[in-house]
Amino acid sequence: MTPSEHAPQEAPARHDAQGDSAAKPADKLIVALDFPDARRALALVDRLEGRCRWFKVGLELYLAAGNSIVETLKKRGFSVFLDLKLHDIPNTVAGAVRSVAGLQADMLTVHASGGPAMLTAAAEAAAGIEKAPQLLAVTVLTSMDAAQLAATGISSSPAEQALRLAEVARAAGIHGLVCSPEEAAQMRRVLPDSILVTPGIRPAGATVGDQKRVATPASALTAGANYLVVGRPITQAENPLFAAEAILSEITTVH
Ligand code: C5P
Repeated sequence: MTPSEHAPQEAPARHDAQGDSAAKPADKLIVALDFPDARRALALVDRLEGRCRWFKVGLELYLAAGNSIVETLKKRGFSVFLDLKLHDIPNTVAGAVRSVAGLQADMLTVHASGGPAMLTAAAEAAAGIEKAPQLLAVTVLTSMDAAQLAATGISSSPAEQALRLAEVARAAGIHGLVCSPEEAAQMRRVLPDSILVTPGIRPAGATVGDQKRVATPASALTAGANYLVVGRPITQAENPLFAAEAILSEITTVH
């Protein structure tokens, strides 16, 4: 199942606590292509082709390489998560959703903290587009802990804030969520039909870097994640293919 098979703003099929058990391991792993140019990104794609089928294009790569990197990945048959984390006034975000619609990315992110009006505008824009990407609302960044959140004036815990934002997104008609694996189980209980995408994935022993709310691939899936986003544990590995294979094997253990 790919998100683009859903009518964009309809509730997706129910995912149980183990995620979508019919999906193959490669359907659950999204490799974040956080590179400064298309050449380096595509060199990694070449190494992972045949094992990985989902790639994430985030701000670093998109701002350097533009639409063509998305078009290249789509032409090569990959599923693309366009992680632009749109966050602006409703009219501008709706326009941005329409602007990238032609790329036929499979998923597109907006920031849930943009609020109900912005999220509704994004959902309505997507609903008016044929083969629109599945919108995902980013709740609380996995790089934020309670102290980071408090510094922005939010005294709730990251989990409470993430759940609040998820409910706001849901009410606006967005059924996909990006959250940390730490709150995935709670999200799955409260919003059982949502698509849960979890960055902050670190295989046991991996360097955590700037991420704060992390978990292993197996524990994220057990908590109810449908998709795992993995960047540096693969992209910075001495052998990215081995690193991806190890994560895919770990995913298999949760089937
Ligand atoms: O290298 P690492 O595995 O930490 O990369 C995580 C990826 O997921 C990055 O591309 C980052 O932009 C993205 N992401 C995140 N936290 C979110 C949403 C997206 O880390 N809440």
